[in-house]
Amino acid sequence: MRTLPKVELHIHLEGTLEPELIFELAARNGIQLPYDLDELRRRYEFTDLQSFLDLYYANLSVVLTEQDFADLTRAYLRRARDAGVRHVELFLDPQAHTSRGVPLATCINGVSEVLKNSESEFGISSSLIATFLRDRPAEEALAVLAELIEMDAPLVGVGLDSAEVGHPPADFVDVFDLARATGLQCVAHAGEEGPPEYVWQALELLGVSRVDHGIRSLEDPKLVDYLVSNGIPLTVCPLSNVRLRVVDTIADHPLPEMLERGLCVTINSDDPAYFGGYVDDNYTAVQDAFNLSADQLATLARNAVSASFLPADRRAPLIAEIEEWRAARPM
Ligand code: ADE
Ligand code: ZN
Repeated sequence: MRTLPKVELHIHLEGTLEPELIFELAARNGIQLPYDLDELRRRYEFTDLQSFLDLYYANLSVVLTEQDFADLTRAYLRRARDAGVRHVELFLDPQAHTSRGVPLATCINGVSEVLKNSESEFGISSSLIATFLRDRPAEEALAVLAELIEMDAPLVGVGLDSAEVGHPPADFVDVFDLARATGLQCVAHAGEEGPPEYVWQALELLGVSRVDHGIRSLEDPKLVDYLVSNGIPLTVCPLSNVRLRVVDTIADHPLPEMLERGLCVTINSDDPAYFGGYVDDNYTAVQDAFNLSADQLATLARNAVSASFLPADRRAPLIAEIEEWRAARPM
C-alpha cells in the first residue's frame, strides 16, 4: 500500500541531527567528544522543553562547515522521502550557529544548495523558514534578519522558537514588522509550554498566519473560536508533546478534541532525531492511539497542504495525490 503523501510544516533542521551523524561530523572536523554513542543516547530523556534545548544546542558543536549543513539537510530529505513527504517548509535556527562563530553564509549556503535540488533529487519540494531564538535579545534577531535580507537568503518566511515561557512574542514586534515589510510569511511557536496569551500575541502583534504547536489554545474558548473562524492552522507535533511532557502519554493528547472543535490541525515531527520519530511515525502514533479512519488521516494531510505557503497551482496536484491515496483504501 502506498504511503499517505504528506506536507511537513514544523520540522527544525537542527532537530534532525541523528546521534550517528554527530559522531561522523565530529570525526570529520577533528572534534573529540567526551562521550561515546551509547552515553550520548542515554541523555535523550527530557523533563521539559529546556532540558531538551540544552542537548539540542550542545550537539550542534560538531556542525561547522557548508558541507556539514548540506549533509544534514540531505540526510533529512532522504528520511523524509521514505516517510512520504512531498513538500517541506523547513525551520533553520541561524542564531544557534552564528552565536558559536559559524558565519551566517555557511549555514544558509550549505542548506540552500541542497534544498534547491530537493524536488529533482528526492521528489520533495521545499522552502526555508528562518526561526529566531526568543531567549536571545530581539536586537540580535533583528540584526540577523537584516543580514539575511541583505544576502538575499532564499526564505519563504520567519518564525520564533526556543524557550517559550518568559519570552513573549510581544518582544519581537520589530523583527516581524521587518519580515512582513520584506514580503516574508510569519509563523511562531506559541502555546507549547506558554499560555494562550502568547498565541494571541503571535496573532495580533506578530501577524502570524500559522501557529506552531498552539495546543494550549484549548484553554481559551475565545481563542479557539478565533482560530477556527479565521482558519488559522496549528502545526501540532504529537511525539514531541509526549517527550517534552506537554502531555503525559499519546492517549492524553488533545488532537481528537482539536479536530472536533474544527481547528485546522496538521501533524508534524518537530525534532525527530530527539523525539522518537519522523512525520510518518507521528501519523502512525495518532492513528493507533485514536483509531483514526482513512478519511481523518486524509483530512490531516489535506490540512497541511492548505496550511502551507505553496501557491494554488502547486496545491492542487498534492490534494489529488491525497485523494488518490484515500480512494485506494476501504471506506
Ligand atoms: N526548537 C527546536 N524545537 C523546539 C520546540 N519544540 N519548541 C521550541 N523551540 C524549539
Ligand atoms: Zn518546534
